[in-house]
Amino acid sequence: MNIHTYEKAWLVASMLLIVGFIATITYGAVGPGIAMIDDDGGSINPDDINDHEKFSEPGVTHVGGNEYEVAVVAQAWAYMPSEIEVPANSEVTFYVTSRDVTHSFTVVGTNMNTMVIPGQVSQMTVEFDESGEYGILCNEYCGEYHHTMEGKLNVVP
Ligand code: CUA
Repeated sequence: MNIHTYEKAWLVASMLLIVGFIATITYGAVGPGIAMIDDDGGSINPDDINDHEKFSEPGVTHVGGNEYEVAVVAQAWAYMPSEIEVPANSEVTFYVTSRDVTHSFTVVGTNMNTMVIPGQVSQMTVEFDESGEYGILCNEYCGEYHHTMEGKLNVVP
């Protein structure tokens, strides 16, 4: 009699566990999930870059106060613009996208580094306290002249 009761309890417990597992997997598959990139504003069609309000004429825009925006288009094997100039004591938001394959936008000697993926806009905001000259390079292999893909970032007084 006793054994029968325990058996029943274990049976119920194991059934609950199985239902729990299935519920977890189902929630993971169809639930809200985790947004890695801003799903509303992070994507772009690479074919539309030439008509895009930010990227058709990439470069530096003063948005007010000490705030600036920089739009950069990466493509094999160059950055547009190739030279970026922003003032010191500024807060600069970079928007970078790729016209073709995956590149990176890496500012040497700083912790500024992002992958640049076609169809996505990489965004980062940086504060520049002091003036300085930095090299920009690509550290995602992007073809024959990957090693020549570079740019310049000048933070001017
Ligand atoms: Cu672009 Cu490597």
